Amino acid sequence: MADEKELSYKEAIEKASSSITRFPLIHIRGIPLMCHIANNWDSIWAFCPDPSDLLIATYPKAGTTWTQEIIDLLLHNGDAEACKRAPTPVRSPFLEICSPPPIPSGLDLLNKMNPPRLIKTHLPFQLVPLGFWENKCKAIYVARNAKDNLVSYYYFDLMNKTQPEPGPFDDYIHKFMRGELPWGSWYDHVKGYWVEREEKNILYLFYEDMKENPRREVERIMRYLDLSVSDDVINRIVELTSFKSMKENPMANYSCVPSPVFDQSISPFMRKGEVGDWKNHFTPEQSKMFDEDYEKQLKDVNIPFRSLI
Ligand code: A3P
Repeated sequence: MADEKELSYKEAIEKASSSITRFPLIHIRGIPLMCHIANNWDSIWAFCPDPSDLLIATYPKAGTTWTQEIIDLLLHNGDAEACKRAPTPVRSPFLEICSPPPIPSGLDLLNKMNPPRLIKTHLPFQLVPLGFWENKCKAIYVARNAKDNLVSYYYFDLMNKTQPEPGPFDDYIHKFMRGELPWGSWYDHVKGYWVEREEKNILYLFYEDMKENPRREVERIMRYLDLSVSDDVINRIVELTSFKSMKENPMANYSCVPSPVFDQSISPFMRKGEVGDWKNHFTPEQSKMFDEDYEKQLKDVNIPFRSLI
């Protein structure tokens, strides 16, 4: 009989598929999280990174996978084959994720790796284990304009069978505004990291800037990481991390997660990859109502979001 440890990530998910369901949310310090995460909260909170570990933090659907791929390529000097050694969630584990066995948790994967590790999280700033800041780990935050972020999350919740049903789009907008989606309020999330970015040396990036000038943003990440790669390598990384390349890359397009969990026939993980798709989804009335609330929720900060480029 095959030892469970020998299962590939995909096989482990396939084996667990009968236990996959749209998991209820449980609040941890006011933040709604999938029950498996909430039930393992103490071990997640106790995680202590190595000072060489790097954190990539985002609200879900802000461009996490894209940034993970850019960084992995930067760390491997643009070597495409090296970055196809495993699917994204194995190369760059998701700190807090916990799922039914035998799916390895983020902590299981991290504990088997040697630092420096590239660690993904969707946790809001106040729930990030304190060791990241005590150990002065580098951290990159990627933010995406609220309306595109919401649309992307809506499609993701349609296809991701572990998160609550999104319901009708109009209701979903209200859930987003009230901070009821998994990982809580987008507004608090983007603000939380923004106000801490200087003190904690967090590189704060925008999805829209990455779309507008990917080369500039790849170079920005390179400098932040104290790396130096040639112009040719930068060009290659920009090409390898284009939406089209990543959509076709089985190690980046989440085809490692089988259909009982991610049903990509409903909506592909690499869906559109554009700025301004919200215009195809929000009615003028919804947009007006959303903008009025947005002004109130973000009135105390001035984060330079762009919902069109
Ligand atoms: P859309 O649903 O708008 O297409 P995350 O990785 O945080 O889950 O974010 C997923 C979103 O980023 C999806 O947005 C996805 O298509 C987009 N994305 C992923 N890779 C991308 C790339 N290389 N270029 C542009 N967008 C990308």
